[in-house]
Amino acid sequence: MKIIIIVAHDLNLVIGNNGTLPWHFSEDLKHFKQTTSGFPILMGRGVFEELGSKPLPNRQNIVLSTTENYDNVACYSSLEQALEAIKLEQPSKLFIIGGGVVYRQAMELADEMIITLVHKEYEGDTFFPEYRSEIGLIWEKTSRIDVSEDLSFIHYTRV
Ligand SMILES: NC(=O)c1ccc[n+]([C@@H]2O[C@H](COP(=O)([O-])OP(=O)(O)OC[C@H]3O[C@@H](n4cnc5c(N)ncnc54)[C@H](OP(=O)(O)O)[C@@H]3O)[C@@H](O)[C@H]2O)c1
Repeated sequence: MKIIIIVAHDLNLVIGNNGTLPWHFSEDLKHFKQTTSGFPILMGRGVFEELGSKPLPNRQNIVLSTTENYDNVACYSSLEQALEAIKLEQPSKLFIIGGGVVYRQAMELADEMIITLVHKEYEGDTFFPEYRSEIGLIWEKTSRIDVSEDLSFIHYTRV
């Protein structure tokens, strides 16, 4: 099972503000849907609440929380437990969809990162971990698509 982080961050690694995304780019939402549909997605309670505590369709939704136990999704109180359970189903890919707390734990486990680089600067209170000094050492850039003036989709694979 490949563990793949999928994230959109701005020039300063901002990913969120006040519990929501600081931007709205429909191309990015479409890209997220196309990339993750059909595969399990793992998220923190913060992201699940942002989704209105409703699972995204056509994907197995898995939520991490030590305080809540939702009955409409698989919910685990540790990352290790969640990974063990997901592996039993033998999916080819698992997407880690955030937020900040979960990305920080998943960085060392991830095989790939699919990053939407937003070519702007936003106010934010949630950040993606700094990884740019690791490019070439830990992360190899395997593709880059410049979608628009505002967005690039960049794919990294662990070296
Ligand atoms: N730009 C992007 O691509 C992107 C993607 C996703 C999210 N975001 C943004 O990120 C922000 C949300 O991120 P966040 O860091 O606040 O929250 P989060 O990572 O979604 O959720 C954090 C919560 O998840 C639970 N959790 C995390 N790790 C756990 C573990 N190992 N075991 C058990 N529970 C665990 C804990 O819940 P309990 O407190 O219940 O224990 C923790 O408080 C929002 O602003 C959102 O818009 C942006």
